[in-house]
Amino acid sequence: MSQADARDALIRRLRLAYSGELAAAVAYAGHWRTLRDPDQRANVQRIRAEELAHRARVGEMLAELGARPHRLRDALMALVGLAIAISCFVGGWTVPMVGAGRIERVNIREYEDAARRAVAAGLPEYAEEFLHMAEVEWDHERYFHDLVRARPGWLARRADWPDPLPREEIRASFHRDLPHALTPPRAPALAPA
Ligand SMILES: [Fe+2]
Ligand SMILES: [Fe+2]
Repeated sequence: MSQADARDALIRRLRLAYSGELAAAVAYAGHWRTLRDPDQRANVQRIRAEELAHRARVGEMLAELGARPHRLRDALMALVGLAIAISCFVGGWTVPMVGAGRIERVNIREYEDAARRAVAAGLPEYAEEFLHMAEVEWDHERYFHDLVRARPGWLARRADWPDPLPREEIRASFHRDLPHALTPPRAPALAPA
């Protein structure tokens, strides 16, 4: 794949992420309102704010790359988020928690993928930020997963899903795949006086 193709692939990935973060933020706006536990409400509000921060940064990156979000997809994903938000009011406690955890698990992989695509596109300066976003998604997954695991009853037990790889693997696997991607260029040797 040429660097130009890799850049196009990165832009496509960023457009998806940009709209996906909106769907998540709208869904969480409904989700936190259905929760009774003050800690859970505060945590889902915090997670929602982190999704909006991701969206803002991804939007800036698109602009830096001379691209724009896909407005129709953005509107559709807002509707998807709204449908999820409404379903939280009828889905009880467990179903929205499981849905959130499973979606967060996918998001980890998506930002890991964006980090690799950034390197392929000759934009390694973005890779570090994507790895950090993947770590934040990992933390979100862990939050929902821990809540579901601690929930008594057959529904939470039946709906459990596999853990993602350990958090450290996000960076470790990146460095294994692309050992020199984030190595700063060596300073030029001083010319002899
Ligand atoms: Fe996010
Ligand atoms: Fe997230």
